[in-house]
Amino acid sequence: MTKVSFSPIIAGCMNWGIWGVRYDPNGYLSMIEKCIEAGVTTFDHADIYGSYTTEAEFGAALRISPSIRNRIQLITKCGICLVSPNRPTHQIKHYNTSSDHIIKSAEQSLKNFHTDHLDMFLIHRPDPLLDPEEVAEAISMLKQSGKVLHFGVSNFTASQTALLHQYHTIETTQVEISLLHTEAIHNGLLNLCISKGISVQAWSPLAGGKLHSDPDDERYRRILAVAGILSEKYQSHADQILLAWLMQHPSGISPVVGTTRLERIHSAVEACNIHMTREEWFMLLRASSGREVA
Ligand SMILES: NC(=O)c1ccc[n+]([C@@H]2O[C@H](COP(=O)([O-])OP(=O)(O)OC[C@H]3O[C@@H](n4cnc5c(N)ncnc54)[C@H](OP(=O)(O)O)[C@@H]3O)[C@@H](O)[C@H]2O)c1
Repeated sequence: MTKVSFSPIIAGCMNWGIWGVRYDPNGYLSMIEKCIEAGVTTFDHADIYGSYTTEAEFGAALRISPSIRNRIQLITKCGICLVSPNRPTHQIKHYNTSSDHIIKSAEQSLKNFHTDHLDMFLIHRPDPLLDPEEVAEAISMLKQSGKVLHFGVSNFTASQTALLHQYHTIETTQVEISLLHTEAIHNGLLNLCISKGISVQAWSPLAGGKLHSDPDDERYRRILAVAGILSEKYQSHADQILLAWLMQHPSGISPVVGTTRLERIHSAVEACNIHMTREEWFMLLRASSGREVA
């Protein structure tokens, strides 16, 4: 099996297209190149981003400079079906983890990116109709043909992950974790990941910027107050403390950062060098929960 190295900080591309800043092809290319220069070589997508348009826009940028493909790793996801002019047969928003849908979705993503392989392919959300045997068969076919190198899930609970892992090795899970969303730390998912060697990616690691959105929110204020004190000690920015807090977890969390600003990409990379004390880690957890945590 080809072993791919993913960068410790992953660039989330959900807001690069029509759901966000609407880069033109040169804007995509410039951001991709600058991320690579900063050491961020892994890019996170999903078929649905931009209502099924963002992958192809990113792919158009790769077409301008094809040699970039060998320097980056592409993550994408399937399984959510949106109602969209780009998918006129979908009547309601639903999930589809049938073999047919998984394979067609991977093939469409390959076309969109103008590539022959996806470095990581994730089932985007748990599907109540998911048949683990069928998913395992589809992923095995994609892996055997070299179209998918690594397989994972996203937003699955510990038991949903453990079930599918019995049928096909899960190499990664992508889940929401931040100081506003600490559930995965307590609900057994990260324990399962450590025990099975499943790597962890945290989406919305800065809670989508929410912490800075409401200065009157008591919880946000508590978290930012502690992050502010630590940022002075570590000569950093409060957001770097929040990312360092995630990365200090023994499951080895890789933040999927959603920023569209290069300076915040650099800031996230620098956060990898911050190692806080155990007490400081718990100070942040206590600020998040608003009560004693031990
Ligand atoms: N697997 C899933 O189900 C799932 C779900 C959602 C997202 N994702 C992935 O995760 C990625 C990241 O998600 P996210 O965008 O929610 O992540 P995030 O990194 O927590 O938040 C990024 C957002 O916060 C803003 N922000 C960051 N620092 C800020 C600050 N100091 N002050 C004000 N605003 C600030 C950014 O604005 P600027 O652009 O101006 O910096 C951007 O809008 C997505 O791109 C996607 O790839 C996956």
